[in-house]
Order: sequence, then C-alpha cells, then structure tokens
Amino acid sequence: MAAAVDERASVRKLVYYIATTLDGFIAGPDGADPTGPDGFWPVPEDYIAHMIAEYPETLPGPARTALSISAPGTHFDTVLEGRRSYETGLKAGVTDAYPHLRHIVFSRTLGESPDPAVEVVADDPVARVRELKQADGKDIWLVGGGELAGALYSEIDTLIVKLSPMTIGAGIPLFSGGATFSPNAWTLTDHKVLDSGAMFLTYDRAADRR
Ligand SMILES: NC(=O)c1ccc[n+]([C@@H]2O[C@H](COP(=O)([O-])OP(=O)(O)OC[C@H]3O[C@@H](n4cnc5c(N)ncnc54)[C@H](OP(=O)(O)O)[C@@H]3O)[C@@H](O)[C@H]2O)c1
Repeated sequence: MAAAVDERASVRKLVYYIATTLDGFIAGPDGADPTGPDGFWPVPEDYIAHMIAEYPETLPGPARTALSISAPGTHFDTVLEGRRSYETGLKAGVTDAYPHLRHIVFSRTLGESPDPAVEVVADDPVARVRELKQADGKDIWLVGGGELAGALYSEIDTLIVKLSPMTIGAGIPLFSGGATFSPNAWTLTDHKVLDSGAMFLTYDRAADRR
C-alpha cells in the first residue's frame, strides 16, 4: 500500500498558475494581453520580485533576458498554452515565449508550428496531459487561457492563483469553453500576501476528486 502512495506522489502535476482579478477574470473581453504595453492590468514591483524569487521559469524569455535571469525552472519544465494565448506572443513577434521550457500549444487550426521548438498539438488535451503526467520531469504549467483550462478542468491537480486587487466586471473567465458545472473542493497549501495587495494562493485539489 505504501508503495502505491509513493508511486502516486512521484507523478507530475498539472498546475494552473494564472493571474486573476477578484471577480475571476484572466483578461478583458477583447482577449488582448492585459499586461502588455496597452494593457489595463498593473504589475507591481513586489509581484515581479516574488515571481523572480519563486517562479523564475514563468517569466517569458524576453523578460528573463531584460532582467538577466537565467535560473532554471524551480517548479516546471513544461508549459501548455491554448492557441489564443500563444498568439498574444506571436503578435509581438515572439514565436517561443518560453524557450527555457518544453512548450506545447493546443490548436486544431494553427497547422505547422511557427517555431521548431514549439509543439502544436491538435489532439485531445486531456489524453496528452495524462501522457505527460506519466513521463519523468517537473510539474506541468498550464498557462491558460480560459478555454484550454476549461477543457482540462478535470486534470488540474494544483491551482496557483495570482490574485490582483482589482475587478473588471466582464472578460475571459478562469474557465470557459467546455467547462461544465462540476463543484470541486480545493485545499489551501501555501499563500503569500504582498504589500501591493496581490496574493499568490496555492490550492491542491481535495483528495475526494471526482
Ligand atoms: N491572466 C493570465 O495569467 C493569463 C494567462 C494566459 C492567457 N491569458 C489571456 O487569456 C486570453 C486567451 O484565453 P482564451 O480562453 O480566449 O483562449 P485560449 O484558451 O488561450 O485558447 C483557445 C484555443 O485553444 C485551442 N483549444 C482549446 N481547447 C482545445 C481542445 N479541447 N482541443 C484542442 N485545442 C483546443 C483552440 O485553438 P484552435 O481554435 O486553433 O483550435 C482554442 O481556440 C488572452 O487574452 C490572454 O492574454 C491570461
């Protein structure tokens, strides 16, 4: 019995690490990058400092270069994106925003990958995530957006929400698309409250997962 528990503990987790407003939105209704040059989402200094200290691999390559960050992944070695999230980088001329991670983009329309280091997957994300979890490695970062997260709702083991002290009234929710009504309990396992009012909250899916 103990061996079975140990085996399960070594399985990589799918972690939805995502910035959200107090009212549960990850972006505005236009689907643009909310933290980009024309974005409405403030990014305080202590928020960036915490990301650099704890999650350096989640900063995009150009930001890592600008900040002289070369730290390897502390949590993740793989990043999953939906096509529309990937395209926010593409529009800025960045074909691989995470060259320091294995980068997988889910899309049924993109066809050939714009970058040899980025794998485009048109197959079922759930099946692909289950395969990835069986391979060795660090945890798998689900970057978003809401539609891909909706498709992977049942597979998410940990939620790390970067909660911004802001409401926007309407926008793209944490989960959309194929998400169906399915209440799940989550256990708070870590938290960091910043002076700016942002919080990093880590929740593991409660043991009685469906
Ligand atoms: N706050 C944050 O931390 C954060 C993080 C990431 C993204 N965002 C924001 O989120 C927004 C984008 O989110 P979104 O919900 O509109 O889109 P998304 O989830 O990024 O991408 C949706 C696309 O992913 C593909 N996809 C989704 N489910 C699939 C499935 N079951 N099988 C295969 N492919 C699937 C489809 O591409 P095809 O149509 O090509 O098939 C779909 O159109 C942007 O504004 C972005 O800036 C915010």
